[in-house]
Amino acid sequence: MTASTAPAASTTAAQPPPLAPGASLLLGHARELQRDTITALAGLSADAPDGVAGFRIGPGRAVVVSTAATVREVLIERAADYGRGKRQTRALEPLMGQGLLVSEGETHARQRRIVLPHLSPRQVPKHADTIVAEAERFVSRWAEPAEVDLVAEMNSLTMDIVTQLLFSASSRDNRALARAITEAFEWEMHAITSVVGLPLWVPTPRNRRARRNIALIRRWIAEFITERRASPDREETVDLLTDLMNTRYEDGSGMPDALLLDEALTAWGASQETSADAQAWTLYLLATHDAVRERVLEEVDSVLGRRTVTFEDLTLLPYCMQVFKEAMRLYPPASMIPRQAVRDTTVGNYTIKAGTMVFINAYSLHRRAEVFEDPETFDPDRFARAREKALPKSAYLPFGTGGNVCPGSHLAMMEGHLLTAVMAQRLRVDLLPGQEIRPQLLVNLRPSPGVRARVVLRD
Ligand code: HEM
Repeated sequence: MTASTAPAASTTAAQPPPLAPGASLLLGHARELQRDTITALAGLSADAPDGVAGFRIGPGRAVVVSTAATVREVLIERAADYGRGKRQTRALEPLMGQGLLVSEGETHARQRRIVLPHLSPRQVPKHADTIVAEAERFVSRWAEPAEVDLVAEMNSLTMDIVTQLLFSASSRDNRALARAITEAFEWEMHAITSVVGLPLWVPTPRNRRARRNIALIRRWIAEFITERRASPDREETVDLLTDLMNTRYEDGSGMPDALLLDEALTAWGASQETSADAQAWTLYLLATHDAVRERVLEEVDSVLGRRTVTFEDLTLLPYCMQVFKEAMRLYPPASMIPRQAVRDTTVGNYTIKAGTMVFINAYSLHRRAEVFEDPETFDPDRFARAREKALPKSAYLPFGTGGNVCPGSHLAMMEGHLLTAVMAQRLRVDLLPGQEIRPQLLVNLRPSPGVRARVVLRD
């Protein structure tokens, strides 16, 4: 993307965004951010009438933006003025290597050209049956009532699903792996928000643990690639690894194994927890809104009865889709998208100095009262066809926008739609009393400290 598409800088743009009050001399706003990142960012956005607020992480200036217009400026119109940022790259590279979440420039463009076609709306329906089979197997364990944490359960389920979709393999009961992933994400979040942000090679206890976790995850995925290369029926296996192994650059060459590992790991990491959090929030919202739950049950029971849902049924289940979209409005899994200005630029009426971190705050974007009436209310009818069409451009961005827009969005939407239907059709979910559940940003936005519920198969 070139800077030529950018709007002309406003002549009144002379000042950086005003610094929010409460910055401590040394740490800036880092302490509030580390304590509760989403509340801190939402507070900064709410206090800024034009949705642009300045703050500090240690000595470093940062800005948070949360209106459709300013988000578009950063992600589309002036995208050439930003990179992913040193903090984000330092946090992701140890795990994801040079995969799509880290690479930039020509490597990034080249990789998107060959990865994206395998995640297109034409390609994703072939994965629907795998998703449904995993979900049905998963819930079938609950013939007798059980008390569970929905966040942990949805993490296991989406891990099973993504491991099948990518590698035609099982991750079931791999507790060491599940723990390694959670801890690796916690380390990433710390690396993004901490003032000092020591590189991974510095042998602090936190870094040593992170190195062990990252090695475990990378080894686990590398083994799939080695096994697949040696497998006689590798051409026939229907999964994303086969697609990525068979794909070709313009010059006819294939992806080198090192990059294949990075891209497979990136797709696996980018999709697993985002989908788990989206589904956990959906279940939580349905369990706390009876009228919506009743409408979902009416829809799945009348369309499906007891039979297994297929991709073809999805057009007959529009309300399930509306519910999933509304859950991602209130709780977008990727609530905070970081960028760093690579040169002096502007946003709204403000100047942005080279080096400034700019955070896209999707959580607050999705709560703009001028766009979403009564924004805190869970109301899936906002996404009824006509009302959704009337939404202003870029007012709803669970998958980002511009040159880094999520390549997995079609797969994620299909998965969310199918899982919402299967869960409603098969399960009764009742929250256990006495819980205070809040959104917590740990790379993704998850319900914290978890969602305790009683689950049982419906008759
Ligand atoms: C509910 C599920 C998901 C959500 C909410 C989500 C959200 C996002 C967002 C907001 C971005 C943009 C980040 C940025 O601009 O820096 C992104 C990027 C990405 N996502 Fe997703 N995602 C989901 C599922 C998936 C799936 C299923 C896959 C792959 C199979 C995937 C693969 C990726 C990759 C590779 C990128 C990096 C793209 C780039 O920078 O070029 N995501 N995702």
